Amino acid sequence: MKSIKENPIGIFDSGIGGTSIWSEIHTLLPLEKTIYLSDSKNAPYGQKSTDQIIALAIKNTEYLLNKNCKLIVVACNTATTNAIKYLREKYQVPFIGIEPAIKPASLKTKTKTIGILATQGTLNSQLFASTANNLDTSIKIIEQIGNGLVELIENNKLISPEMNQLLKKHLKPFIENNIDHLVLGCTHYPYLIPQIKEIIGSQITIIDSGEAVARQTKAILEKNDLLSSKLNIDFQNEFYINTATEVLEHILENKENTSIKQLDF
Ligand code: DGL
Repeated sequence: MKSIKENPIGIFDSGIGGTSIWSEIHTLLPLEKTIYLSDSKNAPYGQKSTDQIIALAIKNTEYLLNKNCKLIVVACNTATTNAIKYLREKYQVPFIGIEPAIKPASLKTKTKTIGILATQGTLNSQLFASTANNLDTSIKIIEQIGNGLVELIENNKLISPEMNQLLKKHLKPFIENNIDHLVLGCTHYPYLIPQIKEIIGSQITIIDSGEAVARQTKAILEKNDLLSSKLNIDFQNEFYINTATEVLEHILENKENTSIKQLDF
């Protein structure tokens, strides 16, 4: 009988942003099969209500469970902060989520001022509020909603004059408030790091949690005795998207053993 250990890890996001998490997981756990869902048709999640985000998270989870995924990574800060509690209550399978790393930033800051760039849905969530309220009270958090950034990335405008202009606008409050750590609270944003650095300079450290999510995925697989032990040479890491495939193709360009399919889900 085939062991459940050889079943794939399921990963979903509102779009292509979660591929930044997929890359970290694939690098750390090359023996694992992965199935990635890009719900780009419904992006951005950031401006939807909590109920709508929960409904979309359920839809994506059920799709991945029907493909026998042994663990699910919610590779989206907005879906994690709004829906992961609900998913964990409803399903047996282990879930890994991603949340803005404001706690590590608060421990490292010297200026006592940190910045967070995230979606409205993440910044307004209860989970984010409770993490923020538990930080040392001397820490000031400058919050900025990254309105429009996800849409430009999903529309293949990662590098464009519109992006440059929007980034300058969103990053201005961070520079003006003398932050020394900037937390990226959306899985689409790591693709913007080179452009963000150009604007904010080298004095501000950028923090993103992709690598930590991969380490946590490994730890939970180990704990549940679910780590794959075989090299699945015939397996293609599967990517499904419910809009045109071009942006995903572009982002996965040089990655071996990947297959991309457009599907309605
Ligand atoms: N990648 C999602 C996140 O981490 C994007 C959110 C959105 O679709 O607005 O929050």
